[in-house]
Amino acid sequence: MYNSKISGLGFYVPDNVVTNEDLSKIMDTSDEWIQERTGIKQRHWIKEGSNETSATMGARAAEIAIERAGLDKDDIDFIIFATLSPDFYFPGCGVQIQEMLEMRTIGALDIRNQCSGFVYALSTGDQFIKTGMYKNILVIGSEYHSNGLDKTTRGRGVSVIFGDGAGACVLSRTEDNQKGILSSHLHSEGKYADKLIVESPSIKHWVPEILNSKEEDLSYFPYMDGTFVFKNAVVRFSEVIMEALSVNKIGPDDIDLFIPHQANLRISQFIQQKFKLRDDQVYNNITNYGNTTAASIVIALTEAWEKGKVKEDDIVLLAAFGSGFTWGSVLLRW
Ligand code: COA
Repeated sequence: MYNSKISGLGFYVPDNVVTNEDLSKIMDTSDEWIQERTGIKQRHWIKEGSNETSATMGARAAEIAIERAGLDKDDIDFIIFATLSPDFYFPGCGVQIQEMLEMRTIGALDIRNQCSGFVYALSTGDQFIKTGMYKNILVIGSEYHSNGLDKTTRGRGVSVIFGDGAGACVLSRTEDNQKGILSSHLHSEGKYADKLIVESPSIKHWVPEILNSKEEDLSYFPYMDGTFVFKNAVVRFSEVIMEALSVNKIGPDDIDLFIPHQANLRISQFIQQKFKLRDDQVYNNITNYGNTTAASIVIALTEAWEKGKVKEDDIVLLAAFGSGFTWGSVLLRW
């Protein structure tokens, strides 16, 4: 069996920065409320009228990751694209990447696991590499949230949290079984699907039905029971981190860098305190990007790597929780 290691990383966010102050001009909110509850100061939102989408941002991030891996697009054997905001209902964004980057007719898979999407995608890629089926897999997480948010006071509990952006990595085969992904752990609990959901349009509730319904049909905006999500997130994050530590027979002190999904800085801080991690063991960047869902971990990992915070042989722990509910972790030796 082979191992898979991350050989290249890249991220891309749209230029347009939206501060909390900007939001307070279009809805009843404040910089103070948003920072106190979430730690977010600003996010990047695609400008209205721009041609950017989840697929185009993913393609930009992917090009950087492939170049940094020292590879050519023709070296990539498979594409995995994680998003909850695909350009189309179908087909998925993966095939758009194959076309946009003018790649060979390799396979492309979309992952629909929301905030856990990147962890699920990484774990899926790892299985293909372990079995020897593929050598280099492009793994992308990308989200275009801003076009789907309720940017009025009615939607403020959700819309202030989310940002647009994309990150990508190349997962490559290594014969060194001490390096790369050491374990991954995936979970779900569908009974809470309705706690964080965009219900429509769906086959159950299609466009004509929405158009004919009364104005109070808000099913096409994201709904989140924030308090319930928060409480479940801290429990599941802790469990899945414990699982990774115990399977690999290591303790919190052995973690060189922990990158939690950037859901809310308060969730990350809670986890940091629970595992008694020092500040230099944790990387957060939600302050500048908001929650970019499937892109958040890979954007943070890329930024941490660019800043020299990820070094050879470091133990890196990634963990995520989100809509589904789904949650998971990946432990790597760099
Ligand atoms: N600005 C100002 N006030 C706001 C607001 C905003 N953006 N959003 C909500 N409020 C108000 C509410 O209307 C409510 O007012 P009321 O007390 O008069 O009814 C009050 O603030 C408290 O709202 P509540 O939703 O209880 O706040 P909270 O402390 O639970 O914080 C979240 C809200 C969303 C920040 C928090 O629940 C959270 O982070 N949850 C997890 C989110 C998450 O991780 N999501 C992604 C999963 S991957």
